[in-house]
Amino acid sequence: MMPPAHSKRLQKPRIIVFGNEKGGTGKSTLSMHVTVALLNRGLRVATFDLDARQGTFSRYIANRRQFAERTGNPVPMPEHLALAPAPHQVVEMALDDALAHVAHFDVVVIDTPGYDSPLSQAGHTYADVLVTPINDSLIDLDVLALVDPQKQAIQRPSHYAERVWKAKQARAKRDGGSMDWVVVRNRLGQLDARNKKLMAKLVDDLAKRIGFRVADGIHERVIYRELFLDGLTAEDLATLITTREVAMSHVAARQEIRNLLAALGLDDTDHATGTG
Ligand SMILES: Nc1ncnc2c1ncn2[C@@H]1O[C@H](COP(=O)(O)OP(=O)(O)OP(=O)(O)O)[C@@H](O)[C@H]1O
Ligand SMILES: [Mg+2]
Repeated sequence: MMPPAHSKRLQKPRIIVFGNEKGGTGKSTLSMHVTVALLNRGLRVATFDLDARQGTFSRYIANRRQFAERTGNPVPMPEHLALAPAPHQVVEMALDDALAHVAHFDVVVIDTPGYDSPLSQAGHTYADVLVTPINDSLIDLDVLALVDPQKQAIQRPSHYAERVWKAKQARAKRDGGSMDWVVVRNRLGQLDARNKKLMAKLVDDLAKRIGFRVADGIHERVIYRELFLDGLTAEDLATLITTREVAMSHVAARQEIRNLLAALGLDDTDHATGTG
């Protein structure tokens, strides 16, 4: 498949990994939304599912392909690969092979499972950008840091933060590269004002302590999940002739994803196809 004429090649594929050992925080949802946003900007995107057993990301993409076949709408597709779980000794080889296959792409989006596994660990070590969505809840903060309940302050980083630290070291050792870690609060809107403030403060404190950046949050919106069966996102609705109404929340969702791309350094407007 040739890239669209307006596509400007980046140096080598930028690797964006969505990771968090806590399950159900929005990794697969945001993987898909970022993938579609990049495709709609004319970039060549490869997608890897390292959570092939659950396969949410793979299913989302399969649904998109079926939608295109069923309706004749030429929605842009990524080159997708679901990697089977493998033991420690061979996971790097499997990832190297997969990446060699897509070396001519602009971006590789990698979704990882909500638990620790050799494949997930190895996947983290390839990230140029690691995006960690956390649900807007103190429970979700627990995999990143232990919080002192009395002082309501960060006590120390916890296991996922340590895992990321190790991945950064492994990455530096392999090719001298560095990883940009971005945390994004997802499903904003459920907490009451007091907890929201505490959550924001703790995430900001933690960012300074363990070295991540905080992206603008993503709100809880039905539009982030209702298009799954058609493999679409709110951004597609702007480019498709559909009977679905384009509501204000769709516009807001597109803006949130655009802000996330900007935070990831992927919002080069030269690629934009006017899907705003
Ligand atoms: N911003 C959002 N607004 C509404 N629903 C959301 C949002 N983000 C995620 N969800 C919903 O939350 C649930 C978990 O999302 P998702 O499957 O993307 O998380 P995950 O981190 O990939 O989970 P796992 O760790 O199991 O792989 C899904 O039902 C999804 O539709
Ligand atoms: Mg998932």
